Amino acid sequence: MDPLKAIAPSDFPFDPSTVCGLVYGGRTIVRIPLKPDEKLYGLGLQFQGLNRRGKVYHLRTDHYSRGNERLHAPTPFYISSAGYGVLFNSPRYIDIYAGIGNRKDSPNLPKIRDRNTDRNWQAQPLSDSVEASVYGNGMEIIVFAAPSMLDVVRRFNLYCGGGVLPPKWGLGFWHRMRSLASDKEVIAEADEFKRRGFPLDVIGLEPGWHSKSYPCSFEWSPSRFPNPQDFLNKMKERGIQINLWENPYISPNASFYKAIKPYTGSHMVWLGLVPDFMMSQARDIFTKQHKECHLNMGVSGYKFDEVDGYDRWLWPDHAVFPSGTSGEQMRQTYALQIQKMMMDVFRSRNQRTYSLIRANNAASSAYPFAIYTDHYDHRGFITAVVNSGFCGLLYTPEIRSAQSGEEWVRRMQSVCFSHLVQLNGWFSNTKPWSFPEVEDRVRDTINLRIRLLPYIYTAFAHYHFEGIPPIRSMVLEPDYTDSERSENQKLDDVDNPYAEAIREDVTDQYMFGKSLLVAPLFVGETARTVILPHGKWYDFYTGDYVGNGEVITVQPSLDRIPLYVREGAIIPLLKEVEPIALMRCPIALEIRHYGALPSQTVLYDDDGENV
Ligand code: GAL
Repeated sequence: MDPLKAIAPSDFPFDPSTVCGLVYGGRTIVRIPLKPDEKLYGLGLQFQGLNRRGKVYHLRTDHYSRGNERLHAPTPFYISSAGYGVLFNSPRYIDIYAGIGNRKDSPNLPKIRDRNTDRNWQAQPLSDSVEASVYGNGMEIIVFAAPSMLDVVRRFNLYCGGGVLPPKWGLGFWHRMRSLASDKEVIAEADEFKRRGFPLDVIGLEPGWHSKSYPCSFEWSPSRFPNPQDFLNKMKERGIQINLWENPYISPNASFYKAIKPYTGSHMVWLGLVPDFMMSQARDIFTKQHKECHLNMGVSGYKFDEVDGYDRWLWPDHAVFPSGTSGEQMRQTYALQIQKMMMDVFRSRNQRTYSLIRANNAASSAYPFAIYTDHYDHRGFITAVVNSGFCGLLYTPEIRSAQSGEEWVRRMQSVCFSHLVQLNGWFSNTKPWSFPEVEDRVRDTINLRIRLLPYIYTAFAHYHFEGIPPIRSMVLEPDYTDSERSENQKLDDVDNPYAEAIREDVTDQYMFGKSLLVAPLFVGETARTVILPHGKWYDFYTGDYVGNGEVITVQPSLDRIPLYVREGAIIPLLKEVEPIALMRCPIALEIRHYGALPSQTVLYDDDGENV
């Protein structure tokens, strides 16, 4: 059955006559109505907060600058708690006033209050609309209606091509080498992982694999990788995939520099040419070299860096490109262009990839790329993990360094419960065992992630076929916001401090796959509260009952990230951990069933690598 048709139909979510649009002053402006109690979620890979109502967003692609607006992925899509989503389908910078501003002709203006005498006067009176605008003559607006917020997200993902199903190895452990590592060092490091009993599925090579970088040559360094084919063969024997870092800015030392030059923009980045990937000529030249020099030799994927850019590094907005695409449009969509181009190359080889990219935008759920960032705030990382699922984005809160063994474990625990588990030692040269006092704990955490592979792969299959994000904010769980309305939950600010507004802005716990609730801890914490959705919940590790729809306080040891499982859940785990690419059937599983409720589940499997 067409998965879109499996979602129950819904009426158009608001009166179309209350939508208005206008082209004025060179801008297209649109107004979408809002009801007083609606909450809004989404608007890209956000590192702060959850409910987007009551703020202004100037959405543009950038290397995350700690605000709400310049983002790695400024996806102009929001979901309303009233059961619909709105996509402003524009490749331009977009301003969104999310429940800000009142028009004088509004049919629902709030009451005017006297600040002198009325304690309920507000500096920001409730607004009854979302208003958005872009430069240019027009913008497509797509409205997704569905019975629940989760179904809205599913509709959006399915409309965009469904979710990605990564190769199985992509869900294993990734380790990035220090920038100037040589082939011998990489092989020695891989063998050290094995000697110490740490899983390893992907090694990332950083800029030093190129003969020149910033701008890039895309050719193997003759001093550090004198025989790349031999190196790749040795990695393959060990079941390890190789992922190559690059930025797409082309050095005069690249073999295809002259050929691609006519199809590049007016401005350079780090004195490298900027290919205009809107032109098939640029795509063909770029991908031909990549196929010949990397993919045919056995490379499994890429990390496309610097495609978000700081203003002072990237091309300016007034840059000119031969396809006629403006500098602004190029910036908003460059990451999408690269992902589509590279996905098509891998598909044409009947090969899946799982890769990395530092920017993204709308309609990317089918692209096999996860976002990463240079910023390193652990809480912000978890908030981004939680927000990613609203907009069809994948994100890795990668681990690089830590001030203490405790921080190292806590960060390792949270990256192990994310879309892509990566240690990025490009600068710090850290290894999973860098803090000897917690080496065993770190190994246990990574092993648990790998053992959960059948469960996680099935979660991605649900993403691929049904559009259900593998990681979801709690507000997308049907029994989450209802739970506080259950009979024994009296709302008050002393006994139950999690009033609705707080419950609906929770950024430090999330759903991982169908049945697991993850509640990470941060350095210095020995206890935390966890908000349970309605229904019975159990401790993942002990199977003990923990609660039903209430707020619990837990004091986990440093060994464990708190994980909770819903009643009746069936969790499949691998019995043995080995490199994922070398796993062969039959694969022994341990099946855990939580609670007492008889139930059934789907366990998805396939060869894990072909398209
Ligand atoms: C940064 C990137 C890092 C690392 C570094 C290498 O831009 O975010 O992950 O790859 O470049 O120069």
